[in-house]
Amino acid sequence: MEKLVIEGGRRLEGAIRVSGSKNAALPILFATILCAGETTLGNVPALRDISTTLRLLGTLGCESVKDGDRVRVRPGRLAPEAPYELVRTMRASALCLGPLLARIGRARVALPGGCAIGARPVDQHLKALAGMGASFELDAGYINASCDCLRGARIAFDMPTVGGTENLLMAASLAKGETVLENAAREPEVVDLANFLVSCGARIEGQGESVIHIQGVDELHGANYEVMPDRIEAGTFLVAAAITQGDLEIENCPYAELEAVCVKLREMGMEISPLADGRVRARCQSRLECVDVKTQPFPGFPTDMQAQIMALFTLSEGSAVIEESIFENRFMHVQELARMGADIRVSGRTAIVKGREGLTGAPVMASDLRASASLVLAGMAASGVTEVLRIYHLDRGYESIERKLNAVGANIRRAPE
Ligand code: EPZ
Repeated sequence: MEKLVIEGGRRLEGAIRVSGSKNAALPILFATILCAGETTLGNVPALRDISTTLRLLGTLGCESVKDGDRVRVRPGRLAPEAPYELVRTMRASALCLGPLLARIGRARVALPGGCAIGARPVDQHLKALAGMGASFELDAGYINASCDCLRGARIAFDMPTVGGTENLLMAASLAKGETVLENAAREPEVVDLANFLVSCGARIEGQGESVIHIQGVDELHGANYEVMPDRIEAGTFLVAAAITQGDLEIENCPYAELEAVCVKLREMGMEISPLADGRVRARCQSRLECVDVKTQPFPGFPTDMQAQIMALFTLSEGSAVIEESIFENRFMHVQELARMGADIRVSGRTAIVKGREGLTGAPVMASDLRASASLVLAGMAASGVTEVLRIYHLDRGYESIERKLNAVGANIRRAPE
C-alpha cells in the first residue's frame, strides 16, 4: 500500500485543472450497455473506479478501449453476471442492474456491501425496478433479477437517491410506455447521464427536477459525448486555496454546479470570482470565519464536500456546527483530524468544530474517498510533515492529486507505506 508524505505550511498559487466527473462517468459508462452501437466518451478521468468499471463492462460483454481521457465502448453479446470480486471494490456496480434488465431481461449482480460511510442499501433501486415488472431473489450474496419486459410505471422514491434515479433512468429508457420518477435526485451527474441517454435517442424530460418523465423507445444508438467536469474535485480545490490562504485559478470549473459550496466559502470570507472560458479564481488572504453547514441533496450543500470543509473549519475563527443528513457514518475523518490537533466533538450526525490557530502534522489513516481528501487538505495547512496512509481510497476519486497540487506549490510525495 502507498502513502502521501505532505510537508505543510506552503501557500498554493497558480492554475489547476479539474478532470472529468467520476460520478457522471460511472453511470454513463454503465449506460453504454443499453446502446446497440459504439459510444465514444471524452473527459473521462483516469481513476481506479473507472478502470474497475471498464473491467466490469468487459465481463458483461462490452469491450472498451481507453486512450488518454477518451473511452470507446463497443457493446457485444451481453452476459448477465457482475462478479463479487469487482462489485465489492466499487458499489456503483449496482448501476448495471437497470441496463441489463432493459437489454436482456436478466442480471446476476453481487449485492454491494456497505462501506465506511454507511450501509448503502439498494432497496429503492429494487422496489422501483419491481414496479416496472422485474422480480428478484437473493442467492448467496447475489441479486438474481429477471423480467419478461420492463413496463413504464409511476415511481416515487422514499428519498432522492442518486443511484436509484440513475438505475431507473437507464431501465425506463428502453421500457414499454412512460415512466414517471417522483422525488428523483437532482444532482448534476444525474442530469449528465440523462443528457447522454438523450444523445443516444432516449426520450427524457425534467432531468434536474424532482419529477422526470421517460418515454421508452425500442433501441438506443451509440453517441459521442463529453463527460461534465468533476464538481467535487473542483470544490476540493476551492478549499485547498482557502486552507493554504492561497490564490488558485481553477480551470474547467463547473461553477454553476457549485453554488451551495461557494455561498458557504464566501460567507467565511473567501473571494471566489468566475472568469472567462470556465475558469474560476479562488483567493484567501486572511483567516476565515466558521459557519454552520447541513448536508442536503442537490442543490443543497453536497455530502461529498463535508469532510473537506470540516478540515477548513478546524483552522478558522470561531466554531462550526456540521450536520451530516445523508449518510449515517460520514465522520471517519474526525479522529484523524484530531490527531493533528483539531478540536471536534461528534454527537450522532452532528459535529461541532472549534477553530484553532494551527494544526500539527502527524501520520493519519484514510478511511474513505472524501475523508482522504480532507486529510490531504489539513496536511497542506499543518506545520511539519503529515503522512496519509491507505491512499488507495484517494486514488478512487482524484486523478493524480499530488501532481496537480505540487504544480501550484504543494510539497507532496507518494511513497510505499
Ligand atoms: C452517490 O452515491 C455518489 N456516488 C456518492 O458519492 C454521493 O455521496 C451520494 O450519491 C449522495 O450524493 C456515485 O455517484 C458513484 P444515494 P449513492 O443513493 O447513489 C440512502 C463519492 O464520494 N439510500 O443518493 O449510493 C443511502 O443510504 C461518493 O464520490 C437508501 O436508503 O447515494 C443514503 O443515506 C460517496 N436506499 C441516501 O439514500 C437506496 O436504495 C443517499 O444515497 C438508495 C439510497
